[in-house]
Amino acid sequence: MMIYERGNAAKQWMLGELDRRFGRANARVLDLACGNGHKWSSFVVSHPEWCVVGVDTDAVAVERGRSEFQGVPQVDLRVLDAQRPVEEGTFDAVVAMSAIEHVVDRPAFLKTVWTALKPGGVAYLNYDAGHFRSSDWKERLMVPVSQALTVFGIEGPYMKRVDDAEFRRQAEAQGFRVIAVRKHNLHPLKGFMRGASDDAIRVWYGLEDRMGSLFTPEQLDNVMWSTTLVLEKP
Ligand SMILES: C[S@@+](CC[C@H](N)C(=O)[O-])C[C@H]1O[C@@H](n2cnc3c(N)ncnc32)[C@H](O)[C@@H]1O
Repeated sequence: MMIYERGNAAKQWMLGELDRRFGRANARVLDLACGNGHKWSSFVVSHPEWCVVGVDTDAVAVERGRSEFQGVPQVDLRVLDAQRPVEEGTFDAVVAMSAIEHVVDRPAFLKTVWTALKPGGVAYLNYDAGHFRSSDWKERLMVPVSQALTVFGIEGPYMKRVDDAEFRRQAEAQGFRVIAVRKHNLHPLKGFMRGASDDAIRVWYGLEDRMGSLFTPEQLDNVMWSTTLVLEKP
């Protein structure tokens, strides 16, 4: 197993899926709410024909990413709001990782995904339950505070728990076909594995893959806090 991402089993799985689906041939992928785009650093080296467009409203994160990818024309990072259309029908895949819980208008976000994809294109939309299950009271307090801030037009820190069934319904209402739901990131292992060896990381990711094939997403929900909805634009 090629390791693309060391600290997040959901991102590693998504990147592995893109590789399995499109191989090394040229593909165009849109990363919505990309942050600094760091997740692409190994992937674009082993997939030199790929083109990645990343968008995020956080100008500081985008600037940090631009310095990391300076001289790498494959990665194009832009400061944009993913609740508005980005480009029409030019992408083979759209991804959004640790993202949906931070999006205020999820139907508008899904419309951006729909508009950006070519027919037959696929989307990996991921969200995390960590902020809402945390035992740290400051993190829990930030949830209602961040929601109240949107009244004043401040969306940057926004977070709201994503209900699996509701988000799935919103995706279907946009016209998507749900092709998979996966749970990742065994809660106690996520921080524990920081700095681990390649062998240890492979054991972790292998265990998550095996659990994903043995249990349903509902059964894994309490131990794996990261959800990825895989959608196809028919
Ligand atoms: C937890 S970070 C995840 C960043 C990145 N996807 C990753 O996995 O490293 C959530 C990101 O969502 C971005 N975000 C939230 N709403 C957004 C929107 N409407 N348009 C673009 N980016 C957005 C935030 O600025 C933030 O960078």
